[in-house]
Amino acid sequence: MVASKSATFFVAGGAGFIGSGFVALLLETLPAATVVNFDALTYAGNLDNLQGLNQERHKFIRGDITDRSSVLDALTDATDVVVNFAAESHVDRSILSANEFIETNVLGAQVLLDCARERKVRRFVQISTDEVMGSLPEDTDTFFTEESHFRPNSPYAASKAAAEHLVRAAHHTFGLDTVITRCGNNYGPRQFPEKFLPLMIANALNDEPIPIYGDGLNVRDWIHVDDHCRAILKVVEAGRSDTTYNIGARNERRNIEVATSVLDQLGKPHSLLKFVKDRPGHDRRYAINPTLIETELGWKPQETWESGLRKTIDWYLGNPRWVDRARSGDYRQFYAQQYGIEVGAN
Ligand code: NAD
Ligand code: DAU
Repeated sequence: MVASKSATFFVAGGAGFIGSGFVALLLETLPAATVVNFDALTYAGNLDNLQGLNQERHKFIRGDITDRSSVLDALTDATDVVVNFAAESHVDRSILSANEFIETNVLGAQVLLDCARERKVRRFVQISTDEVMGSLPEDTDTFFTEESHFRPNSPYAASKAAAEHLVRAAHHTFGLDTVITRCGNNYGPRQFPEKFLPLMIANALNDEPIPIYGDGLNVRDWIHVDDHCRAILKVVEAGRSDTTYNIGARNERRNIEVATSVLDQLGKPHSLLKFVKDRPGHDRRYAINPTLIETELGWKPQETWESGLRKTIDWYLGNPRWVDRARSGDYRQFYAQQYGIEVGAN
């Protein structure tokens, strides 16, 4: 058990979607904890995500996890826990070019592990994904468990699987205290609009078409980001060393169902849905069995799909400037390359 009430955390990737939620949770729930937030601010990192955080106990450092000397400078001997969210996280981008995924997700993870060992941190938590386990058959009672085999199907998933192997090796060879979490599809505020749910919300609000890959029947297991962050905190505090915990809210949905729910809540017509060419290697179904974290650590999701989706849509409705900024710059180039049309085209 790693006591965390007054712990010093080093959070890598804490300006992104999930990392920023986790930093906020740490500062809110652990009144004596301090957080060094280390993030390269790639296209997905956003300082706006950190507005309103306690400034005395939170220090932001712009840095790259592949840069050993920057990491060592930022990581003091007083650091208790490293939590690694830093990653290239979008499957479609990994299909366009895998290099950045290998750099950050694999090499960066190894640099963090080496530095954590050198600084004698007490615990290293690697934020991984259910995608390392590949795709499940449709319409069956099979689920991902902690014993499922590695079967990554995209360059993104393969890079995350490689990182898990490095984490395992750091424990077995060097005795570093490590824990791995594997979660399914997160949704919630501050998610970059390249991902399905915020892309749909942003496009629908602008009456732009919503691209549905293939037949739209792929299944994802959705969880609100705050529930994911609460699960990670449980793992930090009470997870067993050298253990992997699956995190999921038992919330399987077909993509087309998710899309129509969003359109209905926004009062937009289903005619905005546009079936487009499928993603190469598109995993058919993800479904997580979270029994281990539920029974061993007493974690349960607090949001239902209905409450979480409502809050998420309300957040995007209430933050048009955040959305406009995210959809400018690099995003426009990516969107044109990925979808063959300009952002804003109807
Ligand atoms: P994100 O893309 O929103 O954020 C990634 C963050 O990492 C950004 O702030 C970015 O600036 C930072 N970063 C990227 N490269 C870096 C580098 N070299 N050095 C330092 N910082 C760097 O991602 P997210 O959706 O918040 O995902 C966070 C983590 O959770 C990732 O490791 C991802 O694989 C994992 N995960 C995500 C989901 C999901 O549904 N989004 C589900 C399960 C697991
Ligand atoms: O399962 C966890 C993973 O979930 C995380 O590890 C990844 O970081 C995260 O990006 C997410 O991966 P997915 O590939 O499942 O998420 P994405 O939002 O890209 O797509 C969700 C589903 O929607 C998937 O079946 C593909 C489909 N899709 C996606 C986009 C962007 C579409 O039909 N159209 C789209 O335009």
